[in-house]
Amino acid sequence: MSAWQDTEVARWNPVPPDPSLERATSWIAGVADQTPDGASLDLVLCDMETDQVVGELGLQIARRHNAAEIGFWVAEAWRGRGAGRALLERSPAVLAAAHVARGIAVVHPRNLAAVGLVRSLGWEPAPRQPADRLAYVIWAGDSSA
Ligand SMILES: CC(C)(COP(=O)(O)OP(=O)(O)OC[C@H]1O[C@@H](n2cnc3c(N)ncnc32)[C@H](O)[C@@H]1OP(=O)(O)O)[C@@H](O)C(=O)NCCC(=O)NCCS
Repeated sequence: MSAWQDTEVARWNPVPPDPSLERATSWIAGVADQTPDGASLDLVLCDMETDQVVGELGLQIARRHNAAEIGFWVAEAWRGRGAGRALLERSPAVLAAAHVARGIAVVHPRNLAAVGLVRSLGWEPAPRQPADRLAYVIWAGDSSA
């Protein structure tokens, strides 16, 4: 919920207009039905000392394309400390666990942090680019990571 209220998360990600506990509860309950041919899978990074959520890597799976769109965010207090890198480095394993071949991150060209992060990890530009976004591809890999 606090992530939905985070200005930078809301700037670059789709968030509901009413970031309430009720909305979060119904979002979690309906998450498996969000895509017509797939499901969602989220990897959440937590701080063991405070039990707070540090960030999230989310897959929107499209089975018929054998692919998933990858979304991600890191809580403001944790940005610039390697948490985003730690999350995205697990993408190949998470994709493998979800049984899809590739992940695609679609980022706004002005989102310099997100663009810098995926580029720093060596993700390749997708062969087909959306009109006003940048798309990067990562392939499923070793699921033991
Ligand atoms: C994008 C985001 C996840 C980055 O997370 P982070 O934990 O701050 O990133 P890291 O500390 O792991 O940085 C890893 C690399 O990303 C790049 N990077 C991170 N922040 C950057 C910035 N502000 N400008 C340019 N590059 C940046 C750098 O290459 C960095 O490596 P370096 O530290 O060796 O220079 C975070 O800024 C965020 O949550 N933003 C709001 C939500 C969002 O935009 N999500 C993506 C939607 S598609």
